[in-house]
Amino acid sequence: MAKAVMVQSTALGRSAGQLVIGNWKLHGSLIDNQRLFDALLCSPVLTRMAVLPAVCVPFPFLAQCQKKLQGSRLVYGAQDVSAEKSGAFTGEVAASMIAEFGAHYVIVGHSERRMYHGESDAKVLAKTLRVLDVGMTPIVCVGETLAERDCGDTGLVVSCQLNAVLDMLSPEQAARIVVAYEPVWAIGTGYAATSAQAQEVHAHLRGLLRAKGEAVAQVRVLYGGSMRSDNAAELFAMEDVDGGLIGGAALKSEDFLAICEAGLLF
Ligand code: PGA
Repeated sequence: MAKAVMVQSTALGRSAGQLVIGNWKLHGSLIDNQRLFDALLCSPVLTRMAVLPAVCVPFPFLAQCQKKLQGSRLVYGAQDVSAEKSGAFTGEVAASMIAEFGAHYVIVGHSERRMYHGESDAKVLAKTLRVLDVGMTPIVCVGETLAERDCGDTGLVVSCQLNAVLDMLSPEQAARIVVAYEPVWAIGTGYAATSAQAQEVHAHLRGLLRAKGEAVAQVRVLYGGSMRSDNAAELFAMEDVDGGLIGGAALKSEDFLAICEAGLLF
């Protein structure tokens, strides 16, 4: 059931398998993480090349990831980054610091950052550039609220969010990002988008990416928002869904592995 792919132009071309990324949010402890990593690392599911698993953890756990995961197929990253390179910015964490721990990914523009920390599209762009500058992969999140969907504004909202980033990147930079479509109304609610709803928005996002050239059209577009083992396969089956950004279900090894297993089918 392999999806048609024309070019494999990014480091992780779409044909390389589903990218399944856990977003731990404000969860975890050294002991709980250790148990989770042990369970994940001994699973045969993660040895299969057709799924590309990753976890994005709170900053203090990056050192533990480096120790436990470096060299394994479970790659890791952070959930936010400073828009600044360095300087007098108390409490901020620079992209270069995250990269020093061997991280691959940084989530930028998650709706919880946009909502609770007032992150603008301009901030999301600045963060994306910082991540690219140090050779990591930004996971740029976009998504509409329920009110915006009800008004028929989904396409407009996600276009503005993604183009605010894409317009300022060169095609070479744009080809190195990952996009995550996360409808705000689906995050943590138990109500995931249907596969048809997801595909409609993913195809729209694909069109925006394609406008920057065929290499950028190959950027992965992940779905996030109440993805679980019982809906993952249906979502992964969609032509323009290239993986998932998983919140709650990434915290239990059985659930995360079941989603990874669903990814093996496509
Ligand atoms: P959820 O979160 O899977 O718990 O809905 C997804 C996310 O916010 O990345």
